[in-house]
Amino acid sequence: MATQPRIVTVFGTRPDAIKMAPVVLELKKYEPQIKVDVVVTGQHREMLDQVLDVFHITPEYDLNIMQHGQSLSQITARVLTGLEPIFNELKPDVVFAQGDTSTTFVAGLAAFYHKSKFAHVEAGLRTHNKYNPFPEEMNRILAAPLADYHFAPTSMAKENLLREAVDPKRIWITGNTGIDALLSVAAMKHEFAQPELEALRHTGLRTVLLTSHRRENWGEPLTDICRAVLQLVDMHQDIQVVFPMHRNPIVRKTVEAMLGHKDRITLTEPPDYKPFVKLQQLAELILTDSGGVQEEAPSLGKPVLVLRETTERQEGVTAGTALLVGTDTERIISEATSLLTNKQHYHQMANATNPYGDGTAAQQICQIVLKEYGIVSVA
Ligand code: UD1
Ligand code: UDP
Repeated sequence: MATQPRIVTVFGTRPDAIKMAPVVLELKKYEPQIKVDVVVTGQHREMLDQVLDVFHITPEYDLNIMQHGQSLSQITARVLTGLEPIFNELKPDVVFAQGDTSTTFVAGLAAFYHKSKFAHVEAGLRTHNKYNPFPEEMNRILAAPLADYHFAPTSMAKENLLREAVDPKRIWITGNTGIDALLSVAAMKHEFAQPELEALRHTGLRTVLLTSHRRENWGEPLTDICRAVLQLVDMHQDIQVVFPMHRNPIVRKTVEAMLGHKDRITLTEPPDYKPFVKLQQLAELILTDSGGVQEEAPSLGKPVLVLRETTERQEGVTAGTALLVGTDTERIISEATSLLTNKQHYHQMANATNPYGDGTAAQQICQIVLKEYGIVSVA
């Protein structure tokens, strides 16, 4: 009998946890034919733990590296040295990591140092601007030559990898595992535990959901976004804005100073994944610089204004569900106003189709890898 393949999944932040959860749950179905170990780096803490709770995942290893105000070098060094003894012990056949966080790139590097195969989930996203988003564009570029399995969510992502001379036989278009996660929670009934969120349901006002956390938006761009929000609330008396604040203290300082204690603007702790999905469903319009939210909103039929100068999720823009507006105050105001006042424009964006997958990505990914180990016969 063949030996039991040893699979290790590594993640550490809110978005890679959400998108890896369906992969972990799918892999676990094949135990004991394979052995699956979940390693979390703890690059995030509270924002990671809530995702583990939602998906009932208990990690075998937790590096617990988060420190407040951590630098990129600190994350990189701590994850790399933290993974070394674990990989020495487990000797993984395949290491899975997702996306473009520092945890992801370093997991790929550690896999290479241990001569384990690296399966990169959500491969091939590119803006072709190495500082935007920073450092994610470089993280995902560096992940590509380390990877043995490239799971591209879309054909555009596959094209990007082909341009970098990745072997076409090692690229599979699977859709995004984030859509698997989304579909698994979107249909569930849910009450908001946070009273300020429950209150939004009863005001009779239209809800605009806002999130922003990207490093390249710290400082002036975030200030410009907040200025736009203040003016939008003044111009449209029938809207309320809700801003679930990322836990990063740099983001909070600006947002709380500019938007705190203002009429019809609610600043909240970041809701857990399920209530956050419900918040997207409640919203009429979403303004965000998040990668994951750009993918989820179209699946929920919500128009998104992307508060960034570049996007690696061009598919949403092409499909008409997302509009890249940047961080210029006047541009945000005019595009948001158009969507809030022009029903035809709104419905065009809201009814465009979701280009990011059909909810079967994790299943496809597992079958592709496990077929190579003779565990499944179809892929
Ligand atoms: C990280 C990722 C980014 C991803 C984002 C998702 C890197 C370099 N950045 O950025 O790609 O889009 O996560 O949210 O990989 N904090 C807490 N509790 C938490 C999480 C964060 O207090 O649960 C605070 C800490 O002070 C921490 C800071 O936020 O130092 C920044 O966290 P970090 O992971 O370094 O960067 P993010 O901006 O979250
Ligand atoms: N999310 C959440 N609570 C929030 C904000 C976002 O659960 O308060 C979820 C969201 O549904 C998406 C993911 O977190 O699945 C996106 O994470 P984030 O915006 O932090 O990172 P990015 O996708 O930009 O890397």
